[in-house]
Amino acid sequence: MAIVIITPDRDASPLRDQLNRHLPAGAAVWIYPEVPNPEDVTMAVVWKHPPGSLKAFPHLKLVQSFGAGVEHLLLDPELPEGVPLARIVDDALTLSMRNYVGMAVLAIHKRLDVYLENQRRKVWEQPQPVEWPVRVGILGMGELGAASAQFLAGMGFEVWGYSRQRKTLPGVTSLSPQEASLAEFAGRINVLVCLLPLTPQTEGILNDSLFRSMPKGSYLINAARGGHLVEADLLRVLDEGWFEGAFLDVFREEPLPASHPFWEHPKIFLTPHSASVTNPDSASKLVAENYRRVMAGLPPLHRVEAEKGY
Ligand code: GLV
Repeated sequence: MAIVIITPDRDASPLRDQLNRHLPAGAAVWIYPEVPNPEDVTMAVVWKHPPGSLKAFPHLKLVQSFGAGVEHLLLDPELPEGVPLARIVDDALTLSMRNYVGMAVLAIHKRLDVYLENQRRKVWEQPQPVEWPVRVGILGMGELGAASAQFLAGMGFEVWGYSRQRKTLPGVTSLSPQEASLAEFAGRINVLVCLLPLTPQTEGILNDSLFRSMPKGSYLINAARGGHLVEADLLRVLDEGWFEGAFLDVFREEPLPASHPFWEHPKIFLTPHSASVTNPDSASKLVAENYRRVMAGLPPLHRVEAEKGY
């Protein structure tokens, strides 16, 4: 029995080495395309696999995304039918995302951009007001959204959450579409954090009409997927002064092309899709556990509902 790892844009050897420590004896780990016996493969661990590549494995019992997001998987028109999909839910991944969101909100609140610019120009000046009043709203209250919301509430920020299913969390005011429209939610906040899964319903949700439902001077933090954002709409609200700034970790095209206007925009702080990257060390325990489960005929942990898209 074997696991195949298909992660063309990432070095798969750290995950292979960790899996070899956690898997039961006799389970082989192969790195695609070096697969000696495709019929032996019962589980595939994938991140941006070449579409159609999973067809080579007729005995798959599980396709495990090597990340929290699964839209890269669902885009494959030749995904094997009837094989369950699972995603990574891991404390290290959650902590990393929570800290990225915390960093961005603190940078906005403490006006880091003003201080950086003033230091560069040797200007000694206390901004007025010294701290910018934050009312932060998290769009998407799954594992990562809920952890980020609680972290921010623990720091004393006013925190709102918006999700299909209302979440009850201490210190967080949660809303669902039954209670408020997206525009009403946006009207109550001045920092919007997107942590939604990318689905046909959420594609392009970060757009002009949402931005203009927020008060003048607002900020965007997008650490979900580039496909959520209508890039031209963000540039427009930034350039017109409706928005004060944006923290972006994800882009429609990655790596972000050198000619893209986001690189040099004075109101944009960007990171290369690194807000929260799956850690092979900790995630291998979940992968090994899911291997054991599917081999024992049990459902995998953190199974994806393909119809919902997450
Ligand atoms: C990263 O983007 C992930 O989906 O884990």
